[in-house]
Amino acid sequence: GLKKKEVNVLCLGLDNSGKTTIINQLKPSNTQTQDIVPTIGFNIEKFKSSSLSFTVFDMSGQSRYRNLWEHYYKESHAIIFVIDSGDKQTDRQTFFTCSLVFLLPPDICSRRMPVLLFANKSDLREAMSSVKVSQLLCLENIKDKPWHICASNAVKGEGLQEGVDWLQDHIR
Ligand code: GTP
Ligand code: MG
Repeated sequence: GLKKKEVNVLCLGLDNSGKTTIINQLKPSNTQTQDIVPTIGFNIEKFKSSSLSFTVFDMSGQSRYRNLWEHYYKESHAIIFVIDSGDKQTDRQTFFTCSLVFLLPPDICSRRMPVLLFANKSDLREAMSSVKVSQLLCLENIKDKPWHICASNAVKGEGLQEGVDWLQDHIR
């Protein structure tokens, strides 16, 4: 059959937001792991959709590793940004910092790189809706890139396929 197009995706977000859990769910079941630990530096993972072959840079969200993020924007075709929508500490300031980090690197500003956001941990009782998260992040101000936000429960794998379908349609 046709060879799938190879694309690189950068997975970003604060520590403990669920990045590795999301990527693990997207991998073929025989390569999934049972025990997910905080990421040191980053991991490189692979998964496929119907027409694309993804290589994901699953970055650590810990502050001491966040300076690694900027080195991978240039090689990436898209960004997955994960938010813990149940985290009470995730206040406006934290959101602001995160959105600055992913919106402003000068070498990606000119590119129409799609940004997929997961408002993850939607199963938590105190979780904010994806609408609420997009308001806190002022996503409506992003005019230069296509973006999309999905509520997700990475533990159950809910909401992830919608996101991947959107990515597949918007990566060029
Ligand atoms: P770093 O690698 O440190 O940046 O963290 P991470 O963003 O990769 O988070 P990770 O995937 O390691 O998940 C952190 C914790 O959140 C784990 O205990 C997961 O089981 C849990 N978790 C992830 N997604 C969900 C979710 O949708 N709901 C709930 N309740 N827990 C989740
Ligand atoms: Mg991780």
